[in-house]
Amino acid sequence: MAGDRDLAVALLRAWAPGARRLLDGWEMLAATGVRGLRLLHESGAFARMRLTESHPEAAELLAENARRYPGASAERCDARVASGAVFDYVDLDPFGSPLPFLAGALAAVRPGGMLAVTATDMMVLAGVQPGAAERRYGGRPVRGRLGPESGLRVLLGHLAGRARAGGRRARPVLAYCRDHYVRAYVVLDERTASDPPDPVAAVDPATFAGPELGGRGPYGPMWLGPLFDPAVVGRLEPPPAPADPGPTRRMVERLREECRVDVPFYFEPNSLARSLGLASPPSLAGMMGALTAGGFRAARTHARPEGFRTDAPRAEVELAARRLAQSQNARVRA
Ligand SMILES: C[S@@+](CC[C@H](N)C(=O)[O-])C[C@H]1O[C@@H](n2cnc3c(N)ncnc32)[C@H](O)[C@@H]1O
Repeated sequence: MAGDRDLAVALLRAWAPGARRLLDGWEMLAATGVRGLRLLHESGAFARMRLTESHPEAAELLAENARRYPGASAERCDARVASGAVFDYVDLDPFGSPLPFLAGALAAVRPGGMLAVTATDMMVLAGVQPGAAERRYGGRPVRGRLGPESGLRVLLGHLAGRARAGGRRARPVLAYCRDHYVRAYVVLDERTASDPPDPVAAVDPATFAGPELGGRGPYGPMWLGPLFDPAVVGRLEPPPAPADPGPTRRMVERLREECRVDVPFYFEPNSLARSLGLASPPSLAGMMGALTAGGFRAARTHARPEGFRTDAPRAEVELAARRLAQSQNARVRA
């Protein structure tokens, strides 16, 4: 998770300049403290970081590590036991589902503060066990290649509902799927009477204008609003001392591109070729060029190397794919 912690430092460096003072943070499940201590030491955003961990050996190492960083405090305790304290930033990074810790995490975020939450229960969130996802998170994910993004959106829909129940509004600043997990950074504001309803809804694959979702649906309810705050994601820079420089730089570049076309789900040339029966997939660059020439927006996604998001409806994307495949084939024959 070294690259993921790089990204956490990058995000806090991009988000926190808006704050008028240094922040108070809490890493609920700190293990030996690498994430929280890196945030404290490298982001420049924090005055203090509380780090809690229940495992005795990890907690011992955590205490040792925290002693080296002014502003850090370590405690061996069960993070589910409420302390009553509130923070500008709470980081919830469990093995598996964050749900057992979510009530405490939400209660500990000051209005306008940020909750960062990881989920690694991808068998559930990526649609392999849809019944379990409905029971746990209250939404049905898509199965297959778009499963991880749908799981991220089901998780965000769940967070939005829990925030709403507590009089809050959840607004994602950065949310992504990577390797075996999804992670979201969400600002929790006080909800006001004039706030619009949350963009959380079920998706019917028969009428959905984006990429083919497969199966019968309906899927969700899930978050269909933005995954990115473009002002913050557009400011992302790799941190000065990244632990995983190459992947972090590539992820940051990709997110900065992607935040300009923040629509639900992405297309892939291979999937288009399969569903349209094309002899070979259209090239990614060709698809992006054809769509932008047609007046649409298109951007690559962090989620898959060959994936792209676009505001073009599926019919337009398919038309562009057919035309490109035809001209590619004609070139091969010539
Ligand atoms: C995925 S690890 C955390 C990794 C860490 N955030 C990082 O980036 O290095 C989850 C940690 O949560 C701890 N944990 C599990 N249940 C806990 C609880 N109820 N209270 C405090 N810590 C707990 C585990 O012992 C484990 O060290």
